[in-house]
Amino acid sequence: MENEKKKEIVFSAIQPSGTITLGNYLGAVRNWVKMQDEYSCIYALADLHTITVRQEPAQMRKNIIDAYASIMACGIDVEKSLFFIQSHVKSHAEMAWILNCYTQFGELSRMTQFKDKSAKHADNINAGLFTYPVLMAGDILLYQADKVPVGADQKQHIEITCDIARRFNGLYGNVFKIPEGFIPKNGARVMSLQDPTRKMSKSDENANGCVHILDTPETIMRKFKRAITDSEAHVHYAEGKDGINNLMSIYSAVTGLSYEQIEKDFEGKGYGDFKTAVGEAVVEHLRPIQERYNQLVKDKGYIEECYRKADEIALKISSRTVNKAMKKIGFVI
Ligand code: TRP
Repeated sequence: MENEKKKEIVFSAIQPSGTITLGNYLGAVRNWVKMQDEYSCIYALADLHTITVRQEPAQMRKNIIDAYASIMACGIDVEKSLFFIQSHVKSHAEMAWILNCYTQFGELSRMTQFKDKSAKHADNINAGLFTYPVLMAGDILLYQADKVPVGADQKQHIEITCDIARRFNGLYGNVFKIPEGFIPKNGARVMSLQDPTRKMSKSDENANGCVHILDTPETIMRKFKRAITDSEAHVHYAEGKDGINNLMSIYSAVTGLSYEQIEKDFEGKGYGDFKTAVGEAVVEHLRPIQERYNQLVKDKGYIEECYRKADEIALKISSRTVNKAMKKIGFVI
């Protein structure tokens, strides 16, 4: 429309390295859903990033499709947003190579996630793990994104993305939009139910620490009932009460209740009652998502149609940026 302001571009991606967890949902995907009307949203399944850690082929194929369907079930509307699979769009691998040559060994060595991951996978510190932030920078810069919602653990990767883009633009003129990363305020940071000082993660050694959005109601209830808390038995938010703080944050995220209201509602009640209430609220919140997922996976053809369509559009948009960058560098194109 003529005088409708052009919507800003939002880009974000998630690794399909297993099923979507409650942490992925409340921390990221739910915000992606909310941004769909206000922004022109581009989302990707970052499957190229997952092979920095060894994957089992059949499981990886399943994870990708499951994650795609789960995220659609969460409310990503393929009519409104572009939702594609990174490896299907060759610009990502191309741009990663180009940007590798504009990124310094020293700056990649300072990435805390690289240091953490190489400590965790000491037997496979591959070059891809080292250049992971460059692939991510390419993801973002290819679409000239204005805004990039990420978790707090990705902040450093956004900073390096901006550094690389500025460096490149400094050499060749305005090729890339400098993106703005932000950590959504209403995005709950969900911690493990078994070790609430650590982020909820599918690689949690204790399976009870992590809730998957497709877990059955019984499993969800069991995990919440076993959640680690403290010995105080008084539902209130306070420094050091990591377990209760985490449960309050999850409960607030799925019910919309403020911490104050939750404290009032659970005045004089024990942790057992509270854990049951949180479990039930999560089950209810996930019910429509699970129903939609079960509906979607009945028609694999439809899911494929959705990503093929998005892949094609993403290729068109991203190829423009690749061509522009290559031309500026001096390639014959
Ligand atoms: N590295 C991100 C994560 O693990 C996923 C990701 C890949 C991403 N490419 C991106 C996030 C681009 C934002 C923008 O969470």
